[in-house]
Amino acid sequence: MTTPAELMRRDRAWHPPGYAPGYKSTILRSPKRALLGLEQSMSELTGPVFGHSMLDELDDDLIANYATEGEAIGERIIMHGQVLDENARPQPDVLIEVWQANAGGRYRHLNDGYMAPLDPNFGGCGRCISDDQGYYHFRTIRPGPYPWRNNGSDWRPSHIHLSIFGTSFTQRLVTQLYFEGDPLIPLCPIVNTIADPAAIDMLVAKLDMANMVPFDCLTYRFDIVLRGRRSTFFENRREGN
Ligand SMILES: [Fe+2]
Repeated sequence: MTTPAELMRRDRAWHPPGYAPGYKSTILRSPKRALLGLEQSMSELTGPVFGHSMLDELDDDLIANYATEGEAIGERIIMHGQVLDENARPQPDVLIEVWQANAGGRYRHLNDGYMAPLDPNFGGCGRCISDDQGYYHFRTIRPGPYPWRNNGSDWRPSHIHLSIFGTSFTQRLVTQLYFEGDPLIPLCPIVNTIADPAAIDMLVAKLDMANMVPFDCLTYRFDIVLRGRRSTFFENRREGN
């Protein structure tokens, strides 16, 4: 068995710092000492592998997967995009798990005491796996903004949480996506821990009217770019080999 090629190094200047006082929770939970790199064993680099057979039919449909009487309430949307690596190579078989608040901005979670009502037909969780060309999609309700205790009452823009698993346990990314045009994005203390506006823009799903479903759903496009493996740069194949 050949050893997997080395992953491209994470660009820590591109990612938010662990300590960002404007986002109050980071003051206590950020590391106080320098980070250590751990050796990775073959089992961490090669497993687990997810298959389409593991998913239920409605896992990618948050409008229907918790519903008992009627469908979830709110703005019906389809989220879709392509999972790529830094060399623009499509990433198939990537498990994408999502969780979110309902249309009123309330999570189905014991610790969420926001006054917005729960929707009896909306659970707020789903998952899907990217296809051979790295494409994924799921159907859901656009989540509402909600207040949180940070500096008094701040407001989170509408967002969907994502966990993305690659082909091994160490390839996990947890992030959030936002919606184009939301005026709360530039006011959000969590968004503002990211220094580069280009990095923030990569977290914003774009309205995709070409793929809306008439009289049913608006559609948003959200591509996901993961770190790739090192490869020889060819001038005639700038996307990599
Ligand atoms: Fe959230």
